[in-house]
Amino acid sequence: MSVTAQIAKLREQLEEWSYQYYALGNSEVPDAEYDRWFRELEALEAKHPELITSDSPTQRVGAAPLESFQQVAHQVPMLSLGNAFDEQEVRDFHRRICELLDTSEPITYVAEPKLDGLAVSLIYRDGTLAQALTRGDGHTGEDITQNVRTIKSVPLRLRGAAPGVVEVRGEVVMQHAGFERLNEQQIEAGLPPFANPRNAAAGSLRQLDSRVVAQRPLDFFAYSVAQLTAMEWPATHSALLAQVRDWGLQVSQEVKLCTGVEELLTYYSALAAKRDVLPYDIDGIVYKVDRLDWQEDLGYVSRAPRWAVAHKLPVQEEVTTLLDVDFQVGRTGAVTPVARLKPVQVGGVTVSNATLHNMDEIKRLDIHIGDEVVLYRAGDVIPKIVSVVLSRRPQEAKAITLPTACPECGSEIFTPEGEAIARCTGGLICPAQQKEALRHFVSRRAMDIDGLGIKLIAQLVDKGWVKSAADLYQLQAGAVAGLERMGPKSAENLIQALEKSKNTTLARFLYALGIREVGEATAEALANHFGSLSAVMQADEDALQQVEDVGPIVAGRIRHFFAEPHNQAVIAALLDAGIHFPEGEFNAPQEEQPLEGQTWVLTGTLSEMTRGEAKEALQALGAKVSGSVSKRTHIVVAGEAAGSKLTRAQELGVTVWEESQLLDLLAQYRE
Ligand code: IVH
Repeated sequence: MSVTAQIAKLREQLEEWSYQYYALGNSEVPDAEYDRWFRELEALEAKHPELITSDSPTQRVGAAPLESFQQVAHQVPMLSLGNAFDEQEVRDFHRRICELLDTSEPITYVAEPKLDGLAVSLIYRDGTLAQALTRGDGHTGEDITQNVRTIKSVPLRLRGAAPGVVEVRGEVVMQHAGFERLNEQQIEAGLPPFANPRNAAAGSLRQLDSRVVAQRPLDFFAYSVAQLTAMEWPATHSALLAQVRDWGLQVSQEVKLCTGVEELLTYYSALAAKRDVLPYDIDGIVYKVDRLDWQEDLGYVSRAPRWAVAHKLPVQEEVTTLLDVDFQVGRTGAVTPVARLKPVQVGGVTVSNATLHNMDEIKRLDIHIGDEVVLYRAGDVIPKIVSVVLSRRPQEAKAITLPTACPECGSEIFTPEGEAIARCTGGLICPAQQKEALRHFVSRRAMDIDGLGIKLIAQLVDKGWVKSAADLYQLQAGAVAGLERMGPKSAENLIQALEKSKNTTLARFLYALGIREVGEATAEALANHFGSLSAVMQADEDALQQVEDVGPIVAGRIRHFFAEPHNQAVIAALLDAGIHFPEGEFNAPQEEQPLEGQTWVLTGTLSEMTRGEAKEALQALGAKVSGSVSKRTHIVVAGEAAGSKLTRAQELGVTVWEESQLLDLLAQYRE
């Protein structure tokens, strides 16, 4: 095969896969396969640069930065939409249309989500993307072709016949998953995060350097056609959208035909209920008369069509007052500032708390107690404070300071150098951390104490009987038998399990202590290297770093843990209680774990266990449990009301399990 033919074949296959993915919503092949073909094409084009064409799938990486964007007049103006704020206004809209059309025929509408992004017009000439323009003032926009070419859901060439000029309009958005990832990167790079996906999309499109835009997770959804110079117009808007999809453009999966006003309102309720699980922000629903001849008859009034209306959804940004800031201690001791807000309705729910993440974020926002703040909430994006209304800061506004001692246990709060997150150093003594620490301590690969589930742990901690792992060994069968869901038999079993656990290994014991970053492998390595508990406890950071895989961060964590007097006391009490292990010996190498090398994601609400329990169970089998879905995710477990992560998994073709499948798997490995 000639190089030209080879290149053509690769491009055709890659375009076909893109079409399958964006227009039809299937992943025909895994991403790795797409990437392999893509690299092959890149390699061939590198050897034969004369064969590169501007519509090759490789030409999306961005080009040299521009000085400014060119102003370009729109051939067909980009109009706006009239709004309907409630049901009555939708009924009025429908009645007006019936009257103007003066017909007894039922009226069919296309109902579409109103995407909250930026309007962009794509001009294709003979099927090839020639120009992309912003809306601007509706008559003149800016030429952002270089930026738009980097958006993967914008085909550089239309599929099938598309002669003459085809002008497609739609919305550039950033989906939630990409938005959260981008903000994490911004924060890591010391840059301010974006307030919401719309701002992130807008900021990205305004970049003069399209190579930066190529790194931004932008998406394009088409919603109309403004020009067709060499093709027949179909009879309806829905047929037009079908054509647009056939060309390879992405059209929202939520678009639906509705006849009569009642169906519009039913659709509105259904989509409003689904809003939180959509992967992108919408701020309303657009109803459009389906028949294009009727659209023409109805015409326009002051820059908006009479044949369409935007039915608004509750806003996702609202202003409220910051009443106070509490510091919450999480399970790893992370001290998180939580904003207490004057309750406010945002995105359909009442919000009275929002995380402030860390002190850097507080500094960045320059937020004070008493300030009026702008709150954003959408779908499974955690409610967040995006800005402060500085002009309305009251005189008595108070600065926010990080406490020096943990509000739960009084231990020192420590912010490791170069990190943004402050932590309580209390470890095993801090009540907020106690339950999780105990659960970890008793888990199968740690001290392996049977019959001590999280519900029982919670009872023991809440009653004040158990504060640290050492207290477990002081429990009396008689007292335990009186607890909820316990009896003499189960209490006796528990005491026996505790007794049995006293005979352990140094590696298990070190792992059970729950030192941050000290997983099973590190505990094993520490035990092998030092041979005794006292040697590990006395080791300084240099000595610790001699151990395989222990770097300066982990060494620091270990030092801090053993330096904390509370932790020393708990360890002494555990040894006093009779815990023993052979010292000065090498432990047997670890067996291969069943889920080694796999990455899992948990989403939604599980009914049989908490997500934390599921995570621990999966980790105990060797799996990595991640917070975000990618093409490398092995399995996504979706509980009740799973949101954007489930959608993302479906988009990427990642295997999705129900909770019952997970329970079956865990049962299989339970001894
Ligand atoms: S149709 C002449 N459909 O909403 C009517 N607009 O106020 C042209 N938008 O900035 C618009 N989703 O970018 C239409 N499904 C949708 C839409 C949509 C979002 C935006 C559009 C424009 C604004 C109109």
